[in-house]
Amino acid sequence: MDYEGLKIPTHVGIIMDGNGRWAKERGMTRSQGHEAGFENLKKISKYIYSKGIKVLSIYAFSTENFKRSKEEVDFLMKLFEHKFKEYSNQMKEDNIKVVFSGKKAHPLPDAVIAVMKEIEEDTKDKTGGILNICVNYGGHLEIVEATKKISALVRDGKLSLEDITEESFSHYLFQDLPPIDFLIRTSGEVRISNFMLYQLSYAEMYFPSIYFPAFDEASFDDAILIYNKRDRRFGGIKDENTNH
Ligand code: IPE
Ligand code: IPE
Ligand code: MG
Repeated sequence: MDYEGLKIPTHVGIIMDGNGRWAKERGMTRSQGHEAGFENLKKISKYIYSKGIKVLSIYAFSTENFKRSKEEVDFLMKLFEHKFKEYSNQMKEDNIKVVFSGKKAHPLPDAVIAVMKEIEEDTKDKTGGILNICVNYGGHLEIVEATKKISALVRDGKLSLEDITEESFSHYLFQDLPPIDFLIRTSGEVRISNFMLYQLSYAEMYFPSIYFPAFDEASFDDAILIYNKRDRRFGGIKDENTNH
């Protein structure tokens, strides 16, 4: 679809949900669903950047996802090792910087942490856009971790209370990114599930029922058309509506 004349969000967030149900509907295993979902991300992210979106944040694995069976968690960790390397190659070609949000620590396996650090290093000078992958990520965790960083600086006399502002706060989050303009959660669930709570404050949200492995270019086009119908007021009022 031609995006000429459309409003393009700067930062899009995607909660990639429904891999398991997508597979189940096809008589496949949950693992195959994850494989298909993470493969799809390569395609759809390329399309998204080609349309002028600068930052894409994707939810790959929440802190709560460790509650799943050992078998599923182990599979996903192995998948991350391979897929993240593939993303890295693609992003290097496409001039996209890859960053990770979440705690790069236990219970993430060392091998996954190593790959994450390597990819961040390899793409750190890329300037065409940002792919923020949330792994071992929780919105509560992110805010608590930021609070700890700030508290330590204040305790050590390196930061004064007056310097903690709404503008400066985001500097202490896992990644200092612009606010999310548009959040898409696939699979029909209408909830945030602890995703980027701080950055979502004024995001427009869209909850298509399609499962993530099936979320293709046409689905993203639909999403952008919906975003364009939204009236973002940020707490203000529309100019023409001044009738008191
Ligand atoms: C989302 O798909 C992907 C991850 C959590 C890694 P799900 O695995 O949650 O799929 P459903 O919700 O069970 O269908
Ligand atoms: C959110 O999906 C996390 C990811 C997509 C990585 P979940 O499937 O884990 O969320 P809930 O449990 O349905 O809220
Ligand atoms: Mg799910």
